[in-house]
Amino acid sequence: MGFGRGKVILLGEHAVVHGCPAIAVGIERGVTADAIVAERDLLRLAPWDLTLGPDAESDEPLERAFAAALALYPGRPALDVSALVDLPAGAGLGCSAAIGVAVLDAIDEALGIERTRLELAAAALSWERVFHGNPSGIDNTMSAVGGVALYRRDEALRPLHSNKPLHLVIGYSGESSSTKDMVASVGRQLENDPKRVTQAFEGIEVLVRNAKLAIEAGDHIALGQLLDLNHTILSSLMLCTTQLDDMCRAARGAGALGAKMTGAGGGGCMFALATKRDEALRLQGVLGEGAFVVEVSA
Ligand code: MEV
Repeated sequence: MGFGRGKVILLGEHAVVHGCPAIAVGIERGVTADAIVAERDLLRLAPWDLTLGPDAESDEPLERAFAAALALYPGRPALDVSALVDLPAGAGLGCSAAIGVAVLDAIDEALGIERTRLELAAAALSWERVFHGNPSGIDNTMSAVGGVALYRRDEALRPLHSNKPLHLVIGYSGESSSTKDMVASVGRQLENDPKRVTQAFEGIEVLVRNAKLAIEAGDHIALGQLLDLNHTILSSLMLCTTQLDDMCRAARGAGALGAKMTGAGGGGCMFALATKRDEALRLQGVLGEGAFVVEVSA
């Protein structure tokens, strides 16, 4: 059975596309997949009731991504791959990367190919590139590897260690967004106003460096403040919707240590940091329909 996790970027999204570091966690929810040798290539996606074939020229990104994945296996037999997606799509939790990782993991298993989770992450980048032209690689890496880690483009992944688990509550705004469009929007802002956007990235980098220390020291009060500050900088890049702002405000008002949007923004998810599991469950009630709790050990 192949598996790709969802991920939550704690700090550093968007800046990570432009070479800054980011910190992310892999979560237990994700995508499972199974592949069998068959008469023709098919990808079935539940619960969406979608069946498609590989097509490198298609307008449907999933067909192009499936073609890109299969191209990694020259001389292979035809494959029938079934995936079960347990993540909202377009919500900033790395759904597309998790599908890619699960599909490749399942194909590896069907063909008896062995590779490390980091090698699997690298292979899944060709899937991720279909969805947005310039992925930093953080989504596919965290999807394959999990844990809590500091990621920087073209550098080795740095797992973070702490003996205090992170209690996160993830809330869904109900608005879906396109990572490709949001990354392009930040790219345009950088081109038109390089000073402002470079300063924003520098600010985010400082927050990420301090958050690494806070996580390692188990100082979740400091971490919460850094999350709030990161949310404000992302707002200045026009990535937060009113709904995401309202949810973060509600979580802070209800006692969260900090709250921020996560992923590409423009909709999708936010998360709040809670002191402990009971608190996380209480905040889940505040964040309404679709909110869920995760506990991540570093
Ligand atoms: C999307 O989950 C995170 C972004 O930073 C894009 C990327 O890193 O590829 C917005």
